[in-house]
Amino acid sequence: MSEPRKILVTSALPYANGSIHLGHMLEYIQTDMWVRFQKHRGNQCIYVCADDAHGSAIMLRAEKEGITPEQLIANVQAEHSADFADFLVNFDNFHSTHSEENRELSSLIYTRLHDAGHIATRSVTQYFDPEKKMFLADRFIKGTCPKCGTEDQYGDNCEKCGATYAPTDLKDPKSAISGATPVLKDSKHFFFDLPAFDAMLKSWTRSGTLQDAVANKLSEWLDSGLQQWDISRDAPYFGFEIPGEPGKYFYVWLDAPIGYMASFKNLCDRTPGLEFDAFWSKDSTAELYHFIGKDIVNFHALFWPAMLEGSGFRKPDGINVHGYLTVNGQKMSKSRGTFIKARTYLEHLSPEYLRYYYAAKLGRGVDDLDLNLEDFVQKVNSDLIGKVVNIASRCAGFIHKGNAGVLVAGNAAPELTEAFLSAAPSIAEAYEARDFARAMREIMGLADRANAWIADKAPWSLAKQEGKQNEVQAICALGINLFRQLVIFLKPVLPNLAADAEQFLNVAPLTWNDHLTLLSNHPLNPFQALMTRIDPAKVEAMTRDSREDLTASATDTGAAQGNGELSKDPLSAEIDFDAFAAIDLRVALIEKAEHVEGADKLLRLTLDIGDEKRNVFSGIKSAYPNPAELEGRLTMMIANLKPRKMRFGISEGMVMAAGPGGEEIYLLSPDSGAKPGQRIK
Ligand code: MSP
Ligand code: ZN
Repeated sequence: MSEPRKILVTSALPYANGSIHLGHMLEYIQTDMWVRFQKHRGNQCIYVCADDAHGSAIMLRAEKEGITPEQLIANVQAEHSADFADFLVNFDNFHSTHSEENRELSSLIYTRLHDAGHIATRSVTQYFDPEKKMFLADRFIKGTCPKCGTEDQYGDNCEKCGATYAPTDLKDPKSAISGATPVLKDSKHFFFDLPAFDAMLKSWTRSGTLQDAVANKLSEWLDSGLQQWDISRDAPYFGFEIPGEPGKYFYVWLDAPIGYMASFKNLCDRTPGLEFDAFWSKDSTAELYHFIGKDIVNFHALFWPAMLEGSGFRKPDGINVHGYLTVNGQKMSKSRGTFIKARTYLEHLSPEYLRYYYAAKLGRGVDDLDLNLEDFVQKVNSDLIGKVVNIASRCAGFIHKGNAGVLVAGNAAPELTEAFLSAAPSIAEAYEARDFARAMREIMGLADRANAWIADKAPWSLAKQEGKQNEVQAICALGINLFRQLVIFLKPVLPNLAADAEQFLNVAPLTWNDHLTLLSNHPLNPFQALMTRIDPAKVEAMTRDSREDLTASATDTGAAQGNGELSKDPLSAEIDFDAFAAIDLRVALIEKAEHVEGADKLLRLTLDIGDEKRNVFSGIKSAYPNPAELEGRLTMMIANLKPRKMRFGISEGMVMAAGPGGEEIYLLSPDSGAKPGQRIK
């Protein structure tokens, strides 16, 4: 046996202003399976993460909700932690970048970079919102595309024609925060001298730390020349003030990766024997790996190693990059119900189904991974229930009936146990290389062989014959032993199944090396169903709920930062006059407007439309965080929309609003004089 390895592993830190969805989960599940594999093998492997809590998006969202950023990030951290725990993602620590440890480490790293001459300053001219008194990041500026003339485009690219430009090229620019016309203003910015690390990066990116496709992409960037990196933002900003520079803050991406160290530091401070320096100092013998998505490669494979090098810390041994999740072959989409939040999934389905499906499809490459929902049901049912669990459920009954639940000694098919034994190194190698798909293929190949052997021996027929009891017991004992081997191999992917199997097998928690032995003369506990088939109706219900989230918030396009897809306006097809006339549009009086327990986007409106009252759920909370202010005002509603059953009750119609979503939703109102219930013609 070799010495156990010391390994520190991270996943990218999720933004603290949005919910975790199944795209994020691909990364956390991938990392968790790898970490569990290392622990299973007896290595010391520590998995840390944190919420990425800084930046203007978080500051603005907190403001809108009328809470402090600290309250917002505490709420989100609780939500994220529960989502991860329920998907069996087992962090050794989940911290926050808004922490004392991170403040100290960021300031230390910055000071070392500064003292080594790696920080420069110069003046930068940028758009400034004169009402909000803040500089505007590109995504907070909207205007008319200079190329094609489409209105309402973000500050750096046009969604219509695809043009990219500087915000100063936009025609008729407006602040997306206040609506004011921005003015140009100068300010001193701080830059990290990335070009100074060019030679180090050229060799480091080629030293086996990266997948080939990633190293090739980086070569392109490196060959076209590195630029100094702007690491400061002006107040008001939610983050850490730069030491000795009042009013200047670290850009969120400066302190975010330092958050990996900070989370680990926080763990060290409460874990006797765990030494920060043993993992982060230049002469550390521990291994360090970051798991990330393909969109954030430059931050992890250029800026981050340069920051570490420049401040005297060790660099990572690997940046493991994965592709993006698509659902049913397309980008996740709110209107198709495929933008599925972690929590919505968990309300309908068990986490291990998804863990297995991701494992079965995850190779070591950076290709996108498709969650095809039909294939998902099919594959999980056929592999996990049809192949793996099936072995145990076929054999257990005979052992309990015929031998009081005790596995007899002996080996009924040495060639089969030999095949399992000799497959183990290759399965381990696949796990180690993050080729989970190959590991799952090999494991299912073994399951097929076990099933074929049992089918061939047909203990169910033998059991009906005289004098065959010994044979039945020998076959079923081996069946259970092969099932145990499969569980050992699958444990990093399916920890709950493994725990239930350990209970049934009546054994201590299984580790990788347990596959070297077989159980003999061993009493089992009663068998209970280990896993049930996926009911396709549950998958439908999950997509329906994901779609309902949207219906409830038809005008909500999601936060600007880190929330995945930005939905575009649907093209409006022509309708004929009859279709228009069929819509019952009414003036409605908002009698009551209230928060909905457990819904993050919805308000419950009680509407008076003259002859009756209507209950409507509307996704406008982001724009009207204080619903009481809506009470007593008139708006317009579609009164003959088919009532829709939602998680919180029945919605009887829809109110009308304009705007792109988020905080910019504007309820329509009639001119004064209109009366509740009047039809709009
Ligand atoms: N806060 C930054 C990371 C800072 S790390 C020092 C961030 N956050 S994020 O919430 O937007 O994304 C977190 C991780 O989830 C990233 O690695 C990102 O690539 C990954 N994914 C987000 N959406 C994804 C998919 N649709 N599919 C696969 N991974 C996805 O980036
Ligand atoms: Zn355009």
